Amino acid sequence: HTKYRPHPAVELADRQWPSRRIEQAPVWLSTDLRDGNQALFEPMNRERKLRLFQELVRLGFKEIEVGFPSASQTDFDIVRHLIDHGLIPADVTPMAITQLREELIRTTVRSMAGARRAIVHFYNAVAPAWREIVFGMDVPEIIAMVEHHIRLLRELTDAQPGTEWVLQYSPETFCMAELEVSLAVCNAAICAWDAGPGRPMIVNLPTTVEVSTANVFADQIEWMHRRLERRDHIVLSVHPHNDRGTGVACAEQALLAGAQRVEGCLFGNGERSGNLDLVTLALNLYTQGIDPGLDFSDIAAVARIAEECTALPIHPRHPYVGDLVFTAFSGSHQDAIAKGFAAQKPGAPWRVPYLPVDPQDLGRTYDSIVRVNSQSGKGGISYLLQRDHGVVLPRRMQVEFSAVVQKLADASEAELGSDALWQLFERTYLQP
Ligand code: KIV
Ligand code: ZN
Repeated sequence: HTKYRPHPAVELADRQWPSRRIEQAPVWLSTDLRDGNQALFEPMNRERKLRLFQELVRLGFKEIEVGFPSASQTDFDIVRHLIDHGLIPADVTPMAITQLREELIRTTVRSMAGARRAIVHFYNAVAPAWREIVFGMDVPEIIAMVEHHIRLLRELTDAQPGTEWVLQYSPETFCMAELEVSLAVCNAAICAWDAGPGRPMIVNLPTTVEVSTANVFADQIEWMHRRLERRDHIVLSVHPHNDRGTGVACAEQALLAGAQRVEGCLFGNGERSGNLDLVTLALNLYTQGIDPGLDFSDIAAVARIAEECTALPIHPRHPYVGDLVFTAFSGSHQDAIAKGFAAQKPGAPWRVPYLPVDPQDLGRTYDSIVRVNSQSGKGGISYLLQRDHGVVLPRRMQVEFSAVVQKLADASEAELGSDALWQLFERTYLQP
């Protein structure tokens, strides 16, 4: 991505007040088929889940949470189908979530047996409100429960040596818990699994409900990163939600604070205001010159599949993908963009004003960039007339005609397409 370096404004700020930057992409986990799915009006059926799974593989995800096989027969059957029909590429690892109950853990292991590599995802809430109100358990009881079920998982998985088993432990509600409690529970999990060479483990710290600013979450992650047992043998992961609209910021700050892996969903689907948006985070990295290892070169196709599978529309102003994000209505922006395109050299750092990324990198075209409404100036209007109708307006006429266009756009309060512009031009200048 030689085209992209941190934006000149970032480099400028850095010279005055140096700051750290993310230097490499995290390990990605898509939880579209689990956390994303559980938040849908109508959870995905088998066909839609398989379709989205294939798309996630195509995009380059190497770890995919495939569902909750112990809670849903559909999920159980899908996981078995993927494994039994060899539909999981050799470099892709499925993950299945389970609560800490013996029969559920047994079912989860059965659902994944025979996979080349499989992640079993254990979770239980650790914050005071959940301990006291929901489960009525104190911290030693929670630790004992976690240790007991991890020992069971060890027994079950040791009996299935054909699969490389990975434990993921998530202290659900981490961001609302005392750090000492989260640390004690995670360390107990690490020791019970005996994490180390040959016993891979992920500790995944969620903002189950996002309650603080991103820097506070990052401080929590850094605190854990510095204190977790066997840190060199643990992958430290985060799982931000977006209740305060800062899921992406939390993930970015967490990566600076020691996290190595990020969980989220395409276009920020997920419970309430969503999980972390994987697409925005990946493309934020891309525009800073970091290869995210995910292929969004045809983002419209990805959006279409996600919309079809989830039955949720993507907002027109969604970063990078929304219908309107490569569209400039205002005249001064249109003018600057047109000059930027004229000056942009192929392969050179991207410098087109007002466009954070070359739309072509995402499979989008420039055609939709110039749109005309009452805020537009002569630049956009003449551009459309020339491009679509071969009319080159002299400068004085551009000024005059843009006033006519603005009057009509003001009155109609609508956007004017290039055909409407042409008709107006005909009516104004060509008809007797
Ligand atoms: O948001 C959350 O806390 C979760 C956990 C199960 C990781 O989805
Ligand atoms: Zn979640």
